[in-house]
Amino acid sequence: MNRRTLVAIMASLAMAACDNDMTLLSPDSNIGTSVSIDENGTPHYQLTAYGQEIIGTSAMGLAALEANLGSGFEVIKVQRGKADMEWTQPWGENKQMRDRHNEMAVVMKNDEGVELTARFRAFDDGIGFRYEYAAPVDSLTIVGDNTYFNFAQDGTSWTIGSYFSGYELPYREQAISATENANTPFTFQMGQVYGSIHEAALYDFPEMNLYRQDSLDFKSELAPRPDGTLARTGGKFVTPWKTIQIARDAVGLINSSLILNLNEPCAIEDVSWIRPQKYVGVWWGMHLGTQVWTMGPRHGATTENALRHIDFAAANNIGGVLFEGWNKGWENWGGSQHFDYCEPYEDFDLDRIAAYAAEKGVSLWMHNETGGSIFEYEAILDKAFSKYQSLGVHYLKTGYAGGMPDGIRHHSQRAVQHYQKVVEKAAEYQIAIDAHEPIKETGIRRTWPNMMTREGARGMEWNAWSEGNSAEYQCILPFVRLLGGPMDYTPGVFDIYYKTACATPGREAWNGDNSKTYIKTTLARQIANWVLIYSPLQMACDLIENYEGHPAFQFFRDFDPDCDWSEALAGEIGDYLVIARRAGDRYFLGAGTNSEARTISVALDFLEPGVTYDAAIYADDLDAPVITQPDGSQAADKTCYRIEHRKVTSADTLEIAMAADGGQAVSFIPVLQ
Ligand code: NOJ
Ligand code: CA
Repeated sequence: MNRRTLVAIMASLAMAACDNDMTLLSPDSNIGTSVSIDENGTPHYQLTAYGQEIIGTSAMGLAALEANLGSGFEVIKVQRGKADMEWTQPWGENKQMRDRHNEMAVVMKNDEGVELTARFRAFDDGIGFRYEYAAPVDSLTIVGDNTYFNFAQDGTSWTIGSYFSGYELPYREQAISATENANTPFTFQMGQVYGSIHEAALYDFPEMNLYRQDSLDFKSELAPRPDGTLARTGGKFVTPWKTIQIARDAVGLINSSLILNLNEPCAIEDVSWIRPQKYVGVWWGMHLGTQVWTMGPRHGATTENALRHIDFAAANNIGGVLFEGWNKGWENWGGSQHFDYCEPYEDFDLDRIAAYAAEKGVSLWMHNETGGSIFEYEAILDKAFSKYQSLGVHYLKTGYAGGMPDGIRHHSQRAVQHYQKVVEKAAEYQIAIDAHEPIKETGIRRTWPNMMTREGARGMEWNAWSEGNSAEYQCILPFVRLLGGPMDYTPGVFDIYYKTACATPGREAWNGDNSKTYIKTTLARQIANWVLIYSPLQMACDLIENYEGHPAFQFFRDFDPDCDWSEALAGEIGDYLVIARRAGDRYFLGAGTNSEARTISVALDFLEPGVTYDAAIYADDLDAPVITQPDGSQAADKTCYRIEHRKVTSADTLEIAMAADGGQAVSFIPVLQ
């Protein structure tokens, strides 16, 4: 930082600093937040980064029925602290982490004897703050979160709309001032600064959405309980952290570790069983409608099919297999929502399949679609999980596709408690979770590393029965949803112009006419997504027959999702992105563009110096012929690709040429000298 910038920051913070000294700077002094109390005794904060005011003075506080948590406060003391420590995680984009921050706790008390602490942490990549409450009243009904985010100037935002029962919504790129409401992460660009508002460590509390009040001032709205109140708490509680990530460039948001650093250390003693892995499964066929979850002639999860998938996984260096529709009860989906979590269908010989998977060294995953029936599911957790444990199962995909009972919203306090209960119960039985229709990812994977991955955005399934996920959508996802943490997007359809159920006369897909749908990116981009869309459990989601003998599937065979290091190298939100990762001595690179073809130069200086690598390049064929797509549009054939091998070192530069809707994937495997 140059001297002029520093002076500007100090000047903008000076006012707050001189009257009450409630200013906190990040360790590198580029980010500063200051707290003040107004004449009503209501706390306010403000945020400055890189000499630019980002959040102007904004009110803070909560509202409860039983006590005043919003005004009449006086500052009792301001406590300061700092930390600089390294920590490791059993898996993640980066195993080696650094938590360097300064802390300020503003301890306040009001005339009702309510003690409220606003604790702030400032990192070089943003800030977090939360409320800590202790009071004479020992149980509270929270009815308001009066925390505001008053943007200092207009800019661009990338968000999904606010909705308290799901996240599977399209992205909007629009002016901050045009955003009426949004879920988080709320990613924005303001002048020379990129930022994203989210939460860390969401436990026992409803999630936060942002609603614009007027102009650029947004208020936190929490997912309500069925009776309209927001949360029930005890006489002492801490809220999740409200986070504002800050970066100088768009990829800086992806490279930030703010969310994880604001979570508590690992709570599980033995983490040796929590391992990243690749998986395949009986899944895509059901979304196409060519297979079904229920028993009958089109049942996907049959013993024969399961054994075939286990053989395929064993032969292709793939760790796990998932079989949706293995258990009784799918007839009830969309109706009474009663699933059986223990009993397999008669044509799925669970014991034989589990034994065969063990013999072949392949992990058998279980699948629990609940349809949203959280009470019924909670009641069966011990029974089901002990059965899975006895079968040697360590991985479980859960699902909540349906309404929760009694009007409970998916993102409300009761649901947050439910998702957490499943995580902790699963840990007791050494089971790792992949949750679909989950609560948002707020970095709890640091504390509960068995919470490995989750959906929580439009994933691959949307390509089977909707307008699909555009290449642009896939260039926004890593800068918004993925800032929270890993996503089970389930990438990798090779059969771009697949045949759906509707291709067979008299047959229909369960979710309507999908005869005109197809994958909206090139095949090379499907491969690149295995790198770009981080998940420690990474699926190759296509029908396995579409991978058999396919030269490009070699990338997935070589791929290792157990990263040691990752870095987003270049990108702009909605336009393009390049990410490199290291797993052991191998490196993997993924690049993707939106609907514009583009070429990006990437220096390979992230590779180990002095080592020669065989770079296997999976690229778009830029000479692909223009064809009529299933929806009638004209575009280059998305199935065309090239594979090229090159010997490279860290001194080389790669020219990554991508077609419209395309991408490129590269594996770097050391050449044995
Ligand atoms: C929605 C999930 O996202 C999908 O992966 C799953 O196949 C269906 N629900 C059925 O459980
Ligand atoms: Ca879903």
